[in-house]
Parts: sequence; structure tokens; C-alpha cells
Amino acid sequence: MDIRLLHPSDIPHVQHANITNLPENYFMKYYLYHALCWPQLSYVAVDISRPKKTPYDYPRIVGYVLAKMEEDPPDGVQHGHITSLSVMRTHRRLGIAEKLMRQAQRAMVETYGAQYVSLHVRMSNTAALRLYRDTLKFKQEKVEAKYYADGEDAYSMKLDLGFIR
Ligand code: ACO
Repeated sequence: MDIRLLHPSDIPHVQHANITNLPENYFMKYYLYHALCWPQLSYVAVDISRPKKTPYDYPRIVGYVLAKMEEDPPDGVQHGHITSLSVMRTHRRLGIAEKLMRQAQRAMVETYGAQYVSLHVRMSNTAALRLYRDTLKFKQEKVEAKYYADGEDAYSMKLDLGFIR
């Protein structure tokens, strides 16, 4: 497995993974906005176990993390935000999401001096909650009522990145 920075040419494959794994989907330009404004922060997991059959084979992207910096932080503190994270079903429970998250977190600190990272997650998403709360040690900040388009509430979560500096 290769964990590497997202290139703009990966975006159609990342968008495919996102549509397959999550109900929160985005226009192509939103992915491009992340890749162009914060090229150090978003990563993909590429399955390199099967060799390319032709030079034109597309990369086998099996996971991604789409991350950004908050542009005008209301609290005035430089911080990052995880827009989206997912791993294809065939490649889950191999530690890929944890690696993607740790890479993004480190880059937020090293490149932009981020003090913390934030994200939203559905209250019903037990797998992601276990990852964020138990593995990565995010803290639950508050509940945002009806955050999602279907009316589900979100946990707003935050991780202090002081341990990286
Ligand atoms: N059940 C319980 N705990 C889990 C599960 C699960 N299904 N999946 C991960 N975890 C926890 C475990 O503690 C795990 O450690 P362990 O395997 O040693 O027990 C730890 O998280 C690390 O797991 P990874 O293998 O790194 O996670 P994975 O690569 O499987 O990806 C993810 C987890 C991203 C949540 C995946 O299940 C997925 O893509 N789900 C659908 C999309 C999604 O929900 N994305 C997050 C939305 S929130 C957002 O995007 C900001």
C-alpha cells in the first residue's frame, strides 16, 4: 500500500470512492479547491499490489483523506479541518484510515502551524467514531443538530495537535 499526496489527476478516482462510501458528495471543483489551495494536506492510499497492465491504467485508489485549513477561523486560531475520509470496503481494518489521518495531521502542523484539527461525523457512524475517539483521541466538542441533509445530527470533534510539535 502506498500512502501519498493527492494529485489533481487523482480527483475523479477520489470522487468515485467518495460516492461509493459516503452520502456527503461534492462537485469536482471542491476537490480541486482543496488540491490547489492546500496541496500538502490531502492524501490517497493506492493499492500497488497488482501491477499496472498498461501505462494508461489508472491508479487503484482505495482510500483518501480530503483536508484543508480553516480560512477565517472564528476563534482566531490556525486550525485544519477534515472534509472527508473514506476507505473502500475491500481494504478496511488494515489501518489505512488511521495512516491517512496521521499524515494529514502532521502536514497541517508542519506546513501551516495548525494548533488543532476539527471534523464532523454522523452520530450513527460507529466505525468512524471509534477511529476518531479511541484511536486518534479526538474529543467531542458539541452536537450540531440536523447538520446533515437528511436531518441527522453531527458530533463536532476536535484534536489538539500539540503532541506533534
Ligand atoms: N468498527 C469498530 N471500530 C472500527 C471500525 C469498525 N468497523 N473501523 C475502524 N475502527 C476503529 C478501530 O479501533 C480500528 O483499530 P483496530 O482495527 O486495530 O481495531 C481503528 O478504527 C483504525 O481503523 P482503520 O483500519 O484505520 O480504519 P479503516 O481504514 O477501516 O477506515 C473508516 C475507517 C474510514 C471509518 C471506514 O470504515 C469507511 O470508509 N467508512 C465509510 C466512510 C466513513 O464513514 N467515513 C468517515 C466519515 S466522517 C468524515 O469524513 C470527516
